[in-house]
Amino acid sequence: MRRKLAAGNWKMNGLMEDLEQVRSICVAHTDPAVDLLICPPVTLVSGAVKVAQGHALQIGGQDCHALGAGAHTGDISASMLRDAGATAVILGHSERRADHDESSDDVRAKARAAHAAGLMAVICVGESLTQREAANTLDIIGGQLSSSVPDTATGENTVIAYEPCWAIGTGLTASPDQIGEVHDFIRARLERRFGAGVGRSVRLLYGGSVKPDNAALIFGVSNVDGALVGGASLKQADFTPIINALEGSIHI
Ligand code: 13P
Repeated sequence: MRRKLAAGNWKMNGLMEDLEQVRSICVAHTDPAVDLLICPPVTLVSGAVKVAQGHALQIGGQDCHALGAGAHTGDISASMLRDAGATAVILGHSERRADHDESSDDVRAKARAAHAAGLMAVICVGESLTQREAANTLDIIGGQLSSSVPDTATGENTVIAYEPCWAIGTGLTASPDQIGEVHDFIRARLERRFGAGVGRSVRLLYGGSVKPDNAALIFGVSNVDGALVGGASLKQADFTPIINALEGSIHI
């Protein structure tokens, strides 16, 4: 059984005062039936780890370098995140692929570094609107998946997040049929590459305008093991109903 995961990606949002939201999430979910992860900007990682100490909430980073240390101004290594108390890192988010020209090969090297440092890698894949309209979605996802996921992946150290670029921050959500098609495809690819044991144990998250009012519908789709939530994870009042919907989906 894959344990469900509700993950929040704060992107470039959050000041010290917003650690209060982390505290509120901890208080509102003292014994969650799902795994909880918040990935704040790196300035808040160690503060968030302190706030979440003794609670079920895990804290993660949003990127890491492929190397452990060295002359790479402005970068953060996986072992630095681990040292700060993070247990996970988002890698290959479409905003990083677009803003920083990250290739799937870069993402695979980073994921390998994350695994070596003991972090769970949340590896993102997703097609653009042009690619979807050209009916290339599964080709794109298949290519990103095979190049971005390293051979070191296991069900414990790797999560795949399917985030269609056109659904991120737009208020547009992929339909249950669209999500199901891609998630079933990802599952089949993972099973083919890693075998049934590992292939069936890697969790698959959907991301892209997940909100309190559409979460339950999304969580009812096959092979959806949770969500990677952007805007609606910034405030506990928005994130809590999404977490509750995920907990509710366990019994469907
Ligand atoms: P939104 O939920 O704001 O659309 O962001 C999704 C996302 O990119 C999470 O990584």
